[in-house]
This record gives sequence, structure tokens and C-alpha cells, in this order.
Amino acid sequence: MDRSDGGHAGCMTRYGKTLMTHRLCPWWLGYLLASPVRRLFQNPRALLQPMVTQGMTVLEPGPGMGFFTLELARLVGPAGRVVAIDIQPRMLAGLARRAARAGLAERIDARLAQADRLGTDDLEAKVDFVLAFAMVHELPGQAGFFAEAARALKSGAQMLVAEPRGHVTKEDFAKTLTLASQAGLSVASEPIIRSSRTALLRRR
Ligand SMILES: C[S@@+](CC[C@H](N)C(=O)[O-])C[C@H]1O[C@@H](n2cnc3c(N)ncnc32)[C@H](O)[C@@H]1O
Repeated sequence: MDRSDGGHAGCMTRYGKTLMTHRLCPWWLGYLLASPVRRLFQNPRALLQPMVTQGMTVLEPGPGMGFFTLELARLVGPAGRVVAIDIQPRMLAGLARRAARAGLAERIDARLAQADRLGTDDLEAKVDFVLAFAMVHELPGQAGFFAEAARALKSGAQMLVAEPRGHVTKEDFAKTLTLASQAGLSVASEPIIRSSRTALLRRR
């Protein structure tokens, strides 16, 4: 069984492996992940402010119900936008509700991911920052994902990858970073985020 790209075995897709969903975060967990209590140990503003400024175009794959998305939308301001792409319609529905309540819906372009890709052809070299928080380990294959993110990023732009320590071993995270590097994304730093393995990547 070849798991060299960090994915699962099975029939081939554009991401390189089958779409198995046993690792997918259940939609109802989206409510818990978006809970304000989480701010006590992962504060979205404190985490994102150093990387996101007004007017930016931000891509957020796997936003869930938008724990980080709303703060991203505040940080990019009225001239910026956040493209949030999730594979689960119920996550996107939760995100849309929360964005509307916060008056931020106009800055958020919420999209349903395609079966084996995000679907970001229209964003080629237009994105200033990518946030992939606690989602890379859920992907059926990671090589295609990083290639797609790298294509979307402007040259020199950054991507923050944060993975839960409880689910992702040091060795698995090292493999993830190898795949990111093969896609043209180098590690610039390793920001400290509680309960997470992290890398701030830069598009070469
Ligand atoms: C553990 S949740 C994290 C949600 C959010 N980033 C957070 O930290 O609160 C992982 C999210 O990634 C999404 N996801 C998993 N596979 C995906 C894929 N192939 N494309 C887009 N989103 C995906 C899941 O539906 C889920 O919303």
C-alpha cells in the first residue's frame, strides 16, 4: 500500500488517491470547533494578525464552520476577500450563517470543494495568504493539494499549515512538509500554536 503522499490507498483521483472519508471531521464537530471557548488557547486574531493585512485575497481550504474565517474577513477588510472551500455542505451552511450574523458575508466567497480538488483555477497567482488549519491530515492525498495551493499563491506569498498534534505524528508532519516543498513551498518558520504542529511556508 503506497501512502507516500500522505493519503489513503484505493482508486486514483487528481489528488493521487481514492476519496475515503473515514478521516473526515464529522459536520456536527464544526459547532464545537467554532466555539468561542477555543479562543482561550487558539486566538484567531493573535494568530493571524501578523500574516494578514487589509485588501488581501486569502484562501482557506477546510474552514469548517468558520472559526478562523470570520477573523480573516475582519483582517482583510472591505477591500479584501476570503475564499473558503470545504468538502462538506453542512460546514459551509454553518459558516454562511455565522458570516451573515457577523455582517461579513460579502467578504467571504464560500465554495464547495470538488471531489478531488479545491477548484481554484480562477485564483492562479492571485492569493496573498493560504490558511490550512487542522485539515491537511484529512485529505485523501496531499501532493495535489499543495500543488493547487502553490498555483494559487503569488510568488513570495505565505501559507500557514497547522496540524493537530493529537492526530498527526512528527514523522507524518515531516512527510507533509516534504510534499509541500516538492510543490514549491519552503518552510520559512514554525510559529508556536498550542496543540499544533506548524509551518509557515513561502511560495518560491
Ligand atoms: C478538523 S476540521 C477544521 C476546520 C477549521 N479549519 C478549524 O480549524 O476550525 C477539517 C475541515 O476540513 C474539511 N475538509 C476535509 N477534506 C477536505 C477537502 N478535500 N477539501 C476541502 N475541505 C476539506 C472538513 O470538511 C472540515 O471542515
